[in-house]
Amino acid sequence: MKKIIAANWKMNKDRAQSRAAAEELASGLAGRKAERTVMIFPPFLSIAEVSKALGGCADTVVGAQNFYPAESGAYTGEISLAMLADAGASWVLVGHSERRHILHESDVFLAQKTQFALSRNFGVVFCIGETLEERESGKLADVLTRQISQGLSAVFDMPSNLLQEKLIIAYEPVWAIGTGKVAGDREVLEAHAKVKEILAAQPGDLSILPVLYGGSVKPANAQALLALANVDGLLVGGASLEAKSFLNIINA
Ligand code: 13P
Repeated sequence: MKKIIAANWKMNKDRAQSRAAAEELASGLAGRKAERTVMIFPPFLSIAEVSKALGGCADTVVGAQNFYPAESGAYTGEISLAMLADAGASWVLVGHSERRHILHESDVFLAQKTQFALSRNFGVVFCIGETLEERESGKLADVLTRQISQGLSAVFDMPSNLLQEKLIIAYEPVWAIGTGKVAGDREVLEAHAKVKEILAAQPGDLSILPVLYGGSVKPANAQALLALANVDGLLVGGASLEAKSFLNIINA
């Protein structure tokens, strides 16, 4: 399977900056060295610009960082999947630690979002990961088990070929996000093996799902991370904002 390299731009870049980055990416992707699937998650207002700029790139998709799980209606400030599809997005992030911890999205709500997006033909990158406190108190396995078994509870009866195509797990230890502290090889190996084991134990056996690593990924550590067992790709924040740096990760 091709490794998946995903960019989460978070709350960065206006439309002009997004267009410039996407155009630079598009020309870089034309000459890409490695066989990779590339995913870009820009802010909402830049999705249309980025989709347009990357439209001609093979194996490249554009997604949204958030959405509300209803068709339309009285949800002030929210955005629907139909609006995102209209702008060119076909994937969404669900369960990112910033939405779990800053916006207080619960496992129940994340399960609802995941089910809603998958049933409307959107792909989902479902993010999980423990805080430093949870890791240090020996709760890594419990936290990952809870996040997976509750967050994915609504997809267990979906056809496995749909899940294989449209559902990706991203393991992002909260303490490694934006801190410059990338998890060590041993920690990544241990966590990814645990994630695969938990996925295999779910109804329907979800161990076929790709599992990405995220948290302070940089051009300098991308190749080593991609070489680790059970690491099917990378979810990149800060180092995806500069097209050159993100292209170096894609080509790692
Ligand atoms: P950084 O790569 O900036 O640590 O962010 C990781 C992340 O949260 C991607 O979703």
